[in-house]
Amino acid sequence: VPALPEDWQEAGFGLYVHWPFCQAKCPYCDFNSHVAGSIDHHRWTGAYRREIARLRELTGPRVLSSIFFGGGTPSMMQAETVQAVIEAAHEAWDLANDCEISLEANPTSAEAARFHEYAAAGVNRVSVGVQALNDNDLRRLGRMHDATEALNAVETARDIFPRVSFDLIYARQDQTLSAWKDELETALDLEPDHLSLYQLTIEPQTAFGSLARAGKLHGLPDEDLAADMYDLTQELCDKAGLPCYEISNHAPEGQQSIHNLIYWRYGDYAGIGPGAHGRLTLSGQRHATEACRNPGAWLEAVEGGHTPEVSVQPIPPVDQAREYLMMGLRLSEGVSLSRMDKLSRNSLRSEKLDMFQGMGLLMQVDDRLQATPRGRIVLNAVLRELMED
Ligand SMILES: C[S@@+](CC[C@H](N)C(=O)[O-])C[C@H]1O[C@@H](n2cnc3c(N)ncnc32)[C@H](O)[C@@H]1O
Ligand code: SF4
Repeated sequence: VPALPEDWQEAGFGLYVHWPFCQAKCPYCDFNSHVAGSIDHHRWTGAYRREIARLRELTGPRVLSSIFFGGGTPSMMQAETVQAVIEAAHEAWDLANDCEISLEANPTSAEAARFHEYAAAGVNRVSVGVQALNDNDLRRLGRMHDATEALNAVETARDIFPRVSFDLIYARQDQTLSAWKDELETALDLEPDHLSLYQLTIEPQTAFGSLARAGKLHGLPDEDLAADMYDLTQELCDKAGLPCYEISNHAPEGQQSIHNLIYWRYGDYAGIGPGAHGRLTLSGQRHATEACRNPGAWLEAVEGGHTPEVSVQPIPPVDQAREYLMMGLRLSEGVSLSRMDKLSRNSLRSEKLDMFQGMGLLMQVDDRLQATPRGRIVLNAVLRELMED
C-alpha cells in the first residue's frame, strides 16, 4: 500500500481547465455552463495559453501530476485547443511520467468520433457522461444522447484510451430499487476502471429547482429509498472490485482519479477558465483563487492582459484545517490527525469526536480519522458539529 500524503506538497499538483459551453442546458445542472451561438476556438486557445503562462510565473517550477478538462462539455473543444493547452502546460511545468490527462466527454456519436483526435493530442483518460441507461430517463434529464449511443461511446473510448470512467446519476424520478440494480449491473458488466455514481441533487438555481419549488417535480425517492439505493450501490460495486474510495467514486486500487485525489487530499491545483477555483501555495502561503464566471468577461480580461480572478485570498490555517477535513472525510482513507493538528491545534471538538465514534459514524485508525460508510451518508451534518466555530 503506498504511503498516504502527510502534507500539501505530497498531495500532488494539478491543472484544472474549465470549458464553459454545452449544446444544451440540462435541467438538473448548476455548473458554470452556457449555450453559446458561436465559439471562437482560436481566441479560447490563446486565452488558456496566456493563463498557463501567468500561473507559471506565480507558482515557479513544479511537477504536474494531472491535467483535467472539465465543464461544461469539453468534448465540444477542438482537439487543437486541447493539444495547445497540454503543450503549454508541458512548457510551463514538468509533467510527471504518469501524468493523468483527463477529459469529460458527452457520449453523442459526434463527440465519440473525436475521441481519436483527443488521444492523439495527449488525453489518456476520459470520463463519459452516460448519466442513465434508458432512453425515457435520458430525455427527462434533458440529455442529447440515447442509451445505445452512450454504450457505443463507452466501447469506443475503451478501444482508444488507456483509462475510461463514466458517470451515472441515480435516485432519479420514478426510479425503483430494482431498476437501479439492473442499470448498475449493466454498467459494471462494461468493466469500467472507474465509476462516478451520483445521487440526483435538486439544485435551487436550475429548472428542476424551479419545478420542485412549484411542487411539480414528481416521483423523487424518499430518504429511505435513496439510502437503500446507496447501500445497494456499495454492495454491487464492492462485489465487482470497484470499492468506493470517495462518497460517489469507485475504482480498484491504482485506478482512482489522480486529479480527484489532489482535491480531496487537499493538494495544490491551478484552475483556469471561467469560474475555475484554485488552491495554490505561493511563497509558502496557501491561497484560494476564483476566476470570474462569465465566459465573455473572462475572455476579455485575459486578452486585455488583466487577471480574470475575482478573488485571490490567503487561507488562514484554521480554515485550511476545515477545508482539509471537509475534503478528506469524503475519502475512505480519511484525514491525517497530525496534519490537522499541524494546521490548527484543537480544531476538532473532542467530545463530538467521541460521540460520532460511539455512533459508528467516524472511526480512528492510528493517525487517521475516517468516516464509516454510514457516516459518509450524513457527512455534512457530522462536519457541522465536529468543527469549532
Ligand atoms: C459538470 S458535469 C460535466 C460532464 C458533462 N458535461 C456531462 O454532462 O456529462 C459532471 C457530472 O456531475 C454530475 N451532476 C451534475 N449535476 C448533478 C446533479 N444535480 N445531481 C447529481 N449529479 C449531477 C453528472 O453526473 C455529471 O456527469
Ligand atoms: S450536465 Fe453537463 S451537459 Fe448538461 S448542462 Fe451540465 S455541464 Fe452541460
